[in-house]
Amino acid sequence: MRISVIGCGYLGAVHAACMAKLGHEVVGIDVDERKIFELSSARAPFYEPGLEELLRDVQETGRLSFTTDMSAAAGSDVHFICVGTPQKKGENGADMTYVDAATMGLLPYLAAGDVVVGKSTVPVGTAARLAKLVQDQEPTAHLVWNPEFLREGHAVSDTLQPDRFVYGVEDGSEDHPAITVLDDVYATPLASGTPRLITDHPTAELVKAAANSFLATKISFINAMAEVCEAAGADVTRLADAIGMDDRIGRKFLNAGIGFGGGCLPKDIRAFMARAGELGADQALTFLREVDAINMRRRTRVVELTRELCEGTLLGKRITVLGAAFKPESDDVRDSPALSIAAQLQLQGAVVTVTDPKALPNAAKRFPELHFEPELHDAISRADALLVLTEWQQYRSLDPYALVSRVNSPRILDGRNVLDPGKWRAAGWTYRGLGRA
Ligand code: UDX
Repeated sequence: MRISVIGCGYLGAVHAACMAKLGHEVVGIDVDERKIFELSSARAPFYEPGLEELLRDVQETGRLSFTTDMSAAAGSDVHFICVGTPQKKGENGADMTYVDAATMGLLPYLAAGDVVVGKSTVPVGTAARLAKLVQDQEPTAHLVWNPEFLREGHAVSDTLQPDRFVYGVEDGSEDHPAITVLDDVYATPLASGTPRLITDHPTAELVKAAANSFLATKISFINAMAEVCEAAGADVTRLADAIGMDDRIGRKFLNAGIGFGGGCLPKDIRAFMARAGELGADQALTFLREVDAINMRRRTRVVELTRELCEGTLLGKRITVLGAAFKPESDDVRDSPALSIAAQLQLQGAVVTVTDPKALPNAAKRFPELHFEPELHDAISRADALLVLTEWQQYRSLDPYALVSRVNSPRILDGRNVLDPGKWRAAGWTYRGLGRA
């Protein structure tokens, strides 16, 4: 099939490459010339494992191209809208500027029978509004809402082998004509057994908001338990292991630590609350305000614990922050709890050095006032305290015996509860975890 993908960020670039991998002829379109230049040269404009190899692989077939020219969408049967919906400045709601601009820009190039597929995370009601624009322009075209659930760091495999597909169509009926078109697009994963659910437009939009809210709630739940564990002298990691063995609960997303960040969960729960308010259902989501508050409290807690670790004062203390990305295997620093903590420590008088295997260029753009050191051993050298804030494998496997003589004071705060406290203490370190006695 001929496919256009509008928006080539974390979602769109991966989607375009994966659709070409599935055998389709794909054009990726974005207004950002630098991104298009990089992608056209088979280089990923951000770090995502496997993406660059995939880009090289599919570009050799000639099935994948990139452009800034929206008219390249003409002639495609299916058009995916993959642009971002960031948080509005000074408000909780989602900024729909890019989704609206992408749709308006696409309208003149729609032809009879085309299918426009929304993948961006949007406030419920958006699909109905956009469907009207599409049908006013081309009465035989359809709009399907097909939310994306990919995780950064696993984006390629999540796109090629997702847990499920959700197709939201106007009437929610199983024999809507757009369904067979989307089935052809996803023929390979469907053939291997990926389930697909047909819903109406608002249900499909809400599936995404609900899924992200549930994940955020799960993380804040365990972080709330961490607060209680600290007060009671208990260990939240053992607690998570034990409750996670109940398969109604499950162990995934029960890692207590510095909380969730990134370009999705924080802004999506806020946009969901804002939209529920507009719909008169705000009471239903007031618990998400608490989820957000618990999450933000983790950052303050880490600053306080670091002060305790440094004998009551941060002034002049050399603090090394290991990890700047919001999670490992990503260079994304949007709403990164690690960087937010680093900045707080610096504001309170500490001398902060931040290191990360991939995210330093992005981190330096966002927080130019911080000191960044790409070499792990140089970053650690002469530190008064180490803080593991993003659980990259190289930090999980640090050798406490080898490091003890490189630092000023052997103190470590494990913001992700990924180190073995017994081993670090045996090597002479003062170890603090989160929610661990
Ligand atoms: C999330 C959703 O998982 C994905 O389905 C959606 O499409 C986009 O948003 P992503 O932002 O890539 O994906 O990251 P995710 O793996 O969900 O992690 C989010 C944050 O939660 C990270 O900061 C991570 O460190 C944190 N986290 C995750 C925890 O603190 N504890 C956990 O147990 C799991």
